[in-house]
Amino acid sequence: MNFNKQFFLFIILISIICITENKTVSESRTFEQKKVERTEKKIQENLLFTLGCNSCHAFEGPSKKIPLNARKRIKGPNLWIAGNKYQKKYLETWLQKPTPIRGVIWGTMRKGTFHHPSLSSQKAKIVSSLLQNYKDLQIKTGTVPKWKKIPRRILRKARILFQKKTPCYSCHKVYIRKTVYRTPIKVGGESGPSFINAGKRLKGDFIYFFLKNPKRYNPNGRMPVFGDKAFHVLNETDMVALSAYIMSFR
Ligand code: HEC
Ligand code: HEC
Repeated sequence: MNFNKQFFLFIILISIICITENKTVSESRTFEQKKVERTEKKIQENLLFTLGCNSCHAFEGPSKKIPLNARKRIKGPNLWIAGNKYQKKYLETWLQKPTPIRGVIWGTMRKGTFHHPSLSSQKAKIVSSLLQNYKDLQIKTGTVPKWKKIPRRILRKARILFQKKTPCYSCHKVYIRKTVYRTPIKVGGESGPSFINAGKRLKGDFIYFFLKNPKRYNPNGRMPVFGDKAFHVLNETDMVALSAYIMSFR
């Protein structure tokens, strides 16, 4: 009986030791894991610099207005709002196989296309999720509804705004459907970024906030300020409609 009691106590002691051992092991593991996660994040952030992206792109904003004669210094768009602006899936494919977005060399009115450096699929994956962290907190999500199919009344209104009232396509390339043509035709000027497949590239909320305040996102650009007091052609509902319309280009 006495032996049994001692044996029982011994078993309990062993189990307690085992449990505490295990606990310290799992605790130290989460600590290790956290350390790995932190280092991984640092490596990712450094990756943009190691890959040389910062030689042409700024990652901080809002960018300042630069005098015309010094614009040559800006080699590429400021990516401080990359997370608000680009869809992750788009970035991942584009970075592996970059196709020109503009018919002019960035920051100039010179006709031509730029051959962007490309990344391996593994690097593109890391970089595209990393770029999603670059955000302007002033851009509120949920401003432009994510319609699978844009409602007809909004489509009709936006089409007239885009094609007639404010000729957006005088600077942006698009496929548009005109009543006299059966199939959509490619129209548009060169000075702005192309809107072909813009619904796969951009995010609706970004388009709305950009239209409201283009100078915040591109102080050196030529995009007109349509909603200001002096040139009040578009109101807020118009801008939501236009943003949803641009998101339907895919
Ligand atoms: C030699 C300069 C240069 C380097 C280096 C460079 N970029 Fe660019 N990048 C540009 C230019 C110029 C554009 C505008 C392209 C256009 O208008 O067709 C651009 C555009 C972009 C865009 C926007 C695409 C869009 O749809 O508007 C992203 C995102 C981007 N670059 C990411 C990167 C990343 C990530 C790296 C680092 C791996 C990088 N860039 C390295 C010059 C550069
Ligand atoms: C006078 C030419 C011009 C007109 C007209 C114009 N844009 Fe733009 N737009 C620009 C330029 C230039 C940029 C920014 C520069 C760049 O990124 O190359 C721009 C940028 C944009 C962007 C940001 C997209 C991106 O990829 O950076 C959106 C969205 C946009 N315009 C929407 C519109 C809409 C909607 C209209 C009509 C209401 C319009 N634009 C009319 C020239 C124009």
